[in-house]
Amino acid sequence: MVITMQNLISASILSADFGCLRDELSRCEVSGCDMIHFDVMDGHFVPNISYGVPVLKSIKKYSRLPMDVHLMISEPYKYLSAFADAGADIITFHAEALSDPGETIDRIHELGLKAGISVKPNTSVDWIYKYLNKLDMVLIMTVEPGFGGQGFIFDTLEKIKELRKTADSMGIDLDIEVDGGINAETAPLVTEAGANVLVSGSYLFKAEDMQRNVEILRG
Ligand code: DX5
Ligand code: ZN
Repeated sequence: MVITMQNLISASILSADFGCLRDELSRCEVSGCDMIHFDVMDGHFVPNISYGVPVLKSIKKYSRLPMDVHLMISEPYKYLSAFADAGADIITFHAEALSDPGETIDRIHELGLKAGISVKPNTSVDWIYKYLNKLDMVLIMTVEPGFGGQGFIFDTLEKIKELRKTADSMGIDLDIEVDGGINAETAPLVTEAGANVLVSGSYLFKAEDMQRNVEILRG
């Protein structure tokens, strides 16, 4: 169980103002965010298209924060080395995608990065238990992937609790990340359930005072 650590905050730039992305990245840094969450959408795995390798490569130059890349794409394995070269520090792919999870995790590690696997709200965490001892992080989606600004799905809390319990029973110090609808009301609930890495987009970027909201999420 992660007891001593405060929550880590990963700012989802999907909600940033892309007209001044460099300023938005500095705002994350000065506000105390721990990571930049970079949502990649292919218009196939999810019904939306965001940004990819060239954008990551550009923004990497303007931020010292680790790049937490969330691949919402159908064939993540194919693109791992491209995202590693562009500056990813953590790559998380979806359990529901077409790539073999074991091979994908191994390849991410071979590239020298941390590996995470993600499950959508309706996907059970049970079948990823067999990969737990080689994963750095599990991302529990708390909204349907594809869009920022959606409402938190409360049913996902049970899954977070179950995952934390299983990781503890296996003696694994796992990072559990949550993504979607994280704000002042939902942050204490996910933390209590066992999450320790909180992704937040609209709650941070739409804030007048981002630093204050980072502190609220950190708990
Ligand atoms: C949704 C993305 C999220 C999104 C979160 O598919 O994975 O990272 O940006 O946005 P908020 O915090 O606004 O729900
Ligand atoms: Zn995300």
